[in-house]
Amino acid sequence: MTYLVVDNCIKCKYMDCVEVCPVDCFYEGENMLVIHPDECIDCGVCEPECPAEAIKADTESGLEKWLEVNTKYAAVWPNITVKRDPPADAKEWDGKPNKFESHFSENPGEGD
Ligand code: SF4
Ligand code: F3S
Repeated sequence: MTYLVVDNCIKCKYMDCVEVCPVDCFYEGENMLVIHPDECIDCGVCEPECPAEAIKADTESGLEKWLEVNTKYAAVWPNITVKRDPPADAKEWDGKPNKFESHFSENPGEGD
């Protein structure tokens, strides 16, 4: 089991999650973060910290795509453990549907 970052993180990217993870298993893309499924210890601490409710336990149904996305990009994006300022327009993107299809970026973020 692991926790996963899902669609609503895209372009919200609040980064509150990275401050609470005891094993520093968040990885940063240009406009979202992912969790490394093999490093996550399933503590659940990050889930309530995300203002965009974009972190889910993989025991929820329908998250196969997000397991793939988190696994793929955690292997290539840089590790992030320190919160920076979220995007200025993060609030405007909160709750917009299907952001992965229209706005996901494969580009890596800055990392720490
Ligand atoms: Fe980190 Fe725990 Fe969240 Fe997994 S569930 S990403 S170990 S804070
Ligand atoms: Fe994304 Fe939520 Fe973390 S919006 S960066 S999963 S706090």
